[in-house]
Amino acid sequence: MKILVIGSGGREHAIVWKLAQSDLCEKVFVAPGNAGTADEPKTENIGLNAEDLESLLDFAKNKEVDLTIVGPEAPLVLGLIDLFEKNNLLCLGPNKLAAQMEGSKIFMKDVLKKGNIPTANYEVFTDPDSAREFLETCDIPIVLKADGLAAGKGVIVAFSRDEALEALKSLMIEQKLGTAGDNLVIEEFLRGEEASFIVLCDGKNVISLASSQDHKQRDDGDKGPNTGGMGAYSPAPLITEELNEEIMKDIIHPTLAELKRRDIDYKGFLYAGLMINEQKIKVLEYNCRFGDPETQPILMRMKSDFLSLCLKAAKQELKGVEIVWDDRFALGVVMASKGYPEKYETGFSISGLNEENETTKVFHCGTKKEGEKTLSNGGRVLCVTGLGSNLDNAFKNAYETASKINWDGAFYRRDIGKRNQ
Ligand code: AMP
Ligand code: GLY
Repeated sequence: MKILVIGSGGREHAIVWKLAQSDLCEKVFVAPGNAGTADEPKTENIGLNAEDLESLLDFAKNKEVDLTIVGPEAPLVLGLIDLFEKNNLLCLGPNKLAAQMEGSKIFMKDVLKKGNIPTANYEVFTDPDSAREFLETCDIPIVLKADGLAAGKGVIVAFSRDEALEALKSLMIEQKLGTAGDNLVIEEFLRGEEASFIVLCDGKNVISLASSQDHKQRDDGDKGPNTGGMGAYSPAPLITEELNEEIMKDIIHPTLAELKRRDIDYKGFLYAGLMINEQKIKVLEYNCRFGDPETQPILMRMKSDFLSLCLKAAKQELKGVEIVWDDRFALGVVMASKGYPEKYETGFSISGLNEENETTKVFHCGTKKEGEKTLSNGGRVLCVTGLGSNLDNAFKNAYETASKINWDGAFYRRDIGKRNQ
């Protein structure tokens, strides 16, 4: 089979690496991919942008691609799946309407509310004056969320009233995130521990993947600005088997049912960001895709044939499917460019990339090839992932390999997986 994977991050590298291991796989094209995907067996990067839908369609038709898998949210929100399905191409991902679960916070919160699914209390604001009035008397901390896609910058957790009013100004008046901030969700601040709960849906059936947790803040001790994720591990010790069932029953099934009520059959990966404390589980957010960096440790642990699984999901044949997981833990450490998540420089030569061993894998996020060299080419550059018999051993293996890799300005957190210590 010929597969087309869309995207260029660490998530896509892990997806491509795992697909290529399947006997069913003849070739994986990646649009546009990175230096890591370029080096995987059976794989070829193609120079097409992930949001250039028409060119991607032409490519898939010309090469007679059998299955297209979409990594990031932007092409999904733009309607890539609708376009491909209209042209009778098999693909895995939610269509434009279903992708609103990530593309619009207002849509997502409304699905949760109407479906009676536990989430933070919230209000929607479409004009700055009423938002300001609300912020002047609400409880603090408070959370402001831009309605539209904002590349991970659309959520501001304000710990003081001044900070909240400043955030409002920047989003709604100065339009720092463009039109994404024209409408806002302002919601109650939730306390507890976060976990990522990712499921695979085929429009009729749903199956949960291994649990995981990521660290969103840039600095050790979960401090500093929010990022796309500085590291992740699987399984999440917090998610027991009973909790897994409870989440499926109280959150995932009701969400899919509410979507169905709106004539939306969700197909593809669905990521629920959860806040868990002793009393309850609440949904913080939904993403319409696999997590990054959660995908890297999750796929390191997958023993089942990933291509066959994706194919079953695309063909609505997930009923009765079970996924086999490695019992070991996997932990991924993101190595980033100095300055990330704000401004950073790229183009530095990376050394130590061949230090992988049988328990570690270096997934590339933002990298590119230049002759023999591999250069940094993004904020998050690598995700060094290790397997181990427990979280501590996975930690040791991942960090041992990470410590041998370097470039000018490389940095990484030293405490991935040490949340409760
Ligand atoms: P999101 O972009 O919706 O994933 O939010 C980014 C991060 O902001 C989440 O992973 C949480 O760490 C934090 N966050 C979002 N909503 C809330 C909330 N209601 N209470 C506390 N933290 C939140
Ligand atoms: N790791 C967070 C995300 O994928 O959105």
